[in-house]
Amino acid sequence: MLTEFRNEPVLDYSDPEDVRKFRAALDKVRAEAGQTLPLIIGGEKIYLDETFATVCPARPDEALAHFADGGVEHVDMAVAAAEEAFASWRLTPVGERARLLLRVAALMRDRRHELNALMSLEIGKAWSEADGETSEAIDFLEYYARQMLDLADRSDELTEWPGEQQTLNYIPLGVGAVIPPWNFPLAIGTGLLSATLVAGNTAVYKPAEQSPLLGWKVAEYFLECGLPAGVMNFVTGPGEVVGARMVEHPRTRFICFTGSRDVGVEIYEKAGRVLPGQPWLKRSILEMGGKDAVLVDETARLDQAAEGIVTSAFGYQGQKCSAGSRVIIVDDVYDELVPRILERAKSLRVGAPDEGPDVTVGPVIDPNQFDKVKSYLETGSDEGEVLLGGSPIETEEGGYFIQPTIFGEVPETARIAQEEIFGPVVALVRARDFEDALRIVNSTDYGLTGAVYSEDPGRLSRVRDDFHVGNLYINRKCTGAMVGVQPFGGFNMSGTDSKAGGPDYLTLFTQAKAIAQRL
Ligand code: NAI
Ligand code: MG
Repeated sequence: MLTEFRNEPVLDYSDPEDVRKFRAALDKVRAEAGQTLPLIIGGEKIYLDETFATVCPARPDEALAHFADGGVEHVDMAVAAAEEAFASWRLTPVGERARLLLRVAALMRDRRHELNALMSLEIGKAWSEADGETSEAIDFLEYYARQMLDLADRSDELTEWPGEQQTLNYIPLGVGAVIPPWNFPLAIGTGLLSATLVAGNTAVYKPAEQSPLLGWKVAEYFLECGLPAGVMNFVTGPGEVVGARMVEHPRTRFICFTGSRDVGVEIYEKAGRVLPGQPWLKRSILEMGGKDAVLVDETARLDQAAEGIVTSAFGYQGQKCSAGSRVIIVDDVYDELVPRILERAKSLRVGAPDEGPDVTVGPVIDPNQFDKVKSYLETGSDEGEVLLGGSPIETEEGGYFIQPTIFGEVPETARIAQEEIFGPVVALVRARDFEDALRIVNSTDYGLTGAVYSEDPGRLSRVRDDFHVGNLYINRKCTGAMVGVQPFGGFNMSGTDSKAGGPDYLTLFTQAKAIAQRL
């Protein structure tokens, strides 16, 4: 019998002993840097001549590892290996699959400082945010292990029929394409992969090009914990080549993806076409972007609101699908709230996260993201007033740093108020009153997260009905959903509302088989 699920406690690195362990782990990760790592297909390690580097975004010349530049032929080999392994993995007792997840969780718990240190280097994540991500990965493993044990057999929920015995089993689908993003490579990589595998599916798993080393760790841990060859196949290479083939392969049974809206929509369309040799309708589980709003009305506790706004906007440099990148403030308190937001934002410390736990804002992930955010800084200076920041930061090592940036008096229809920027940039929008603010909140194509700061009970009940997002937060920040506590996933162009870390999630990775036997 397993204990009840509990969230993994998160370290904030206020304890000097934890700081020492982190620094030791950083040395270890650095000492291991520079390796060339293979594809893993059917348990075989395959090294390719063509490779690409994964680098530190604070110092792009610092290569952490080199990965095989895989192609379509490797995906085809991986799908074949996964299909072969499915024949036995699907019949592995669910308890055995669940125990495997628990072993991976234990390993991650043991190596949390190493994972956190690697996160600070490979994706530029601040220490406590990194530990938050490692804890989330552990939570997914612990949670889905328990959920699958519950889901496997739901016969006891069926209505009885005389003379027959009924069974309802949740069985796996087949080969899954597992495509996580770079912003939560450990948590989302682990979440997508563990859900896929614990349900009895096999996987072709492709980490994002910007974070293959964290992706590799996930694969390595599963194998170290005894996952049989071929059940998970690790393939690296360009998303447009490797990812695209995974989606379009006729023997792929389902796709689980988190990333950009454009790619999500493309996958949705491609997965809808039935290809020759494809005897099923593919299922797609897609989590896309957000343009998440924080609404503040005139009854709100303004210091509490300012705190939540700054944390939601600038945590991990705004590179979260849940980031609060629009703040809709009612006219009565706009002028009073803005200085409080600025005061807090000015105390953020920008730097290379490996420097120390007091760095709160690191670099953005890569040159593409750097250019994209810079171009929004230009757009924003035309569309609104620059209240803070507004420029990139030049460093000797050429890191991708952007000043935490706040634009004020932004029109609700401005591009910076409508489009996902994915950087440390927030747009403040003035609304006439609460009703106007609520209308503005619902005016984008997205619907992922949102927050409301108000002390008015009538309005708080109103937003429960009419603030149209998958994850609504009242009088708190709109980031940091916890596994099992706030199942996560959005509406409209934010995705398929799969609610990761929730009680329905694993039904997406299974199909139900109802069996009636005459007695
Ligand atoms: P992306 O959507 O291109 O990448 C996400 C994953 O999809 C990666 O593993 C990538 O290799 C893969 N991929 C790329 N093209 C593919 C294709 N044609 N078929 C199958 N898989 C494919 O995101 P990218 O380029 O890293 O970032 C661009 C923008 O996307 C960001 O500026 C941000 O706005 C958004 N984004 C949002 C995320 C979120 O959590 N909501 C996460 C990552 C990006
Ligand atoms: Mg892309």
